Amino acid sequence: MSKSAVLSFKGKSFTLPSIEGKEKEIALDIGKLRKESGLITLDPGYKNTGSTKSAITFLDGEKGILRYRGYAIEELAEKSTFLEVAYLLIYGDLPQKDDFEQFKDNITKHTLVHEDVKKILDGFPSHSHPMGILSSLVCAQTAFYPASLDPNRSAEAVNLSIIRLIAKMPTFAAWAYKKEVGHPVVYPDNSFDYCGNFLKMMFALPVKVYELDPVVANALDRILILHADHEQNCSTSTVRLVGSSRASLYASISAGINALWGPLHGGANQAVIEMLDNIIAEGGNFEKYIEKAKDKNDPFRLMGFGHRVYKNFDPRAKMIKKLADEVLAKLGIHDRVLELAKKLEESVLRDEYFIEKKLFPNVDFYSGIIYKAMGIPIEMFTVMFVLGRLPGWIAHWKEMRENNEPIGRPRQIYVGHGHRPYISVDKRTKEKQS
Ligand code: ACO
Repeated sequence: MSKSAVLSFKGKSFTLPSIEGKEKEIALDIGKLRKESGLITLDPGYKNTGSTKSAITFLDGEKGILRYRGYAIEELAEKSTFLEVAYLLIYGDLPQKDDFEQFKDNITKHTLVHEDVKKILDGFPSHSHPMGILSSLVCAQTAFYPASLDPNRSAEAVNLSIIRLIAKMPTFAAWAYKKEVGHPVVYPDNSFDYCGNFLKMMFALPVKVYELDPVVANALDRILILHADHEQNCSTSTVRLVGSSRASLYASISAGINALWGPLHGGANQAVIEMLDNIIAEGGNFEKYIEKAKDKNDPFRLMGFGHRVYKNFDPRAKMIKKLADEVLAKLGIHDRVLELAKKLEESVLRDEYFIEKKLFPNVDFYSGIIYKAMGIPIEMFTVMFVLGRLPGWIAHWKEMRENNEPIGRPRQIYVGHGHRPYISVDKRTKEKQS
């Protein structure tokens, strides 16, 4: 079988070599196409464009397979812990016992943040969205650790930035929330594990003793595992693109946080609950929302449905739905929103429009229901996603740097004006300009 494709254009032929991935997916290498033919390829939204070769995550959207470094997500969610998965993603293999102890110890040592971070927090108006605060605090780390500005420093220096970021992110996230609600910040407590420490910083108040609920801490750990990486999605591609200019780890991750914020990406978990709450407030008529989503003239989309890559089911959504049932049962919570979500899902899965377009619940559809049961406020949902996705972003940034990838710089097809002479402002008219 030929290992290349031939492109014919205006009587000339150009050979495009193919590249085969580990799981037999095939790409055509167009790297030399422009040089040889003058042609570029056009693919808005990069729907069919591979931007890199990566050894981190394998995803088969047709079969609903998701693996981190070769390990099935289902198995990791059941048997591993979030920090072990973070190690796996960032360093490539599951850690040996001693290495893992060292890793956890390193993270524990860096949970405290510089006291001046509080001054930055003070500068934000109260009720600021925690995602905006979070991306700012992460970027501000470049000021506290100026050596991190150079991503070409030694591997040890880069690793220190990585450890600091994983260690401090729960502190930033919890403090962003405390700022929003006007409560005093809670300092990290290293007697708790990663998730326990975060939950304490979120919910402890000076007026009473904090008691960690192990059901909540365990569910959080599993949900973070399910969010830990998802190959070249919008925020990860952002991290890689920003990092490709040799911007620092903190600047790159801060950009990833902003990309995740949008409602078509990680912001969907907040948008799902807002949508379900609205349906309940309006009497529970979810069919009306389904009809709105199907209406070509209405920009509304059913939040939590559809995915760029999954076209059969999202394996994370399946697990999160099960986890939502488990967590709510264990916490003894009866939630109208969960009931409505299930009814809505059933209806959508029977509907021709969604069947034909292969639109299924995605990871964000049920995650908000668990966060709600944990007592996490709605505007913190996307922040929770950040906590989960952080190791994936770091792994991609590190892989991109280690492979010395070139700066990311797409091309375009220009469709604006041809050359126009400059007309001075006193002689300018609308007609003359067109
Ligand atoms: N509700 C109604 N119609 C939808 C939905 C939806 N949720 N999602 C896609 N469609 C329709 C589109 O209108 C389009 O119809 P058309 O072919 O008639 O024009 C078709 O399905 C394909 O949609 P695209 O937008 O082209 O698909 P794309 O792969 O670009 O978008 C996305 C994927 C952004 C996730 C989209 O399905 C969506 O907007 N979903 C709702 C937001 C959401 O849940 N985002 C979270 C995604 S998971 C994550 O990022 C962590």
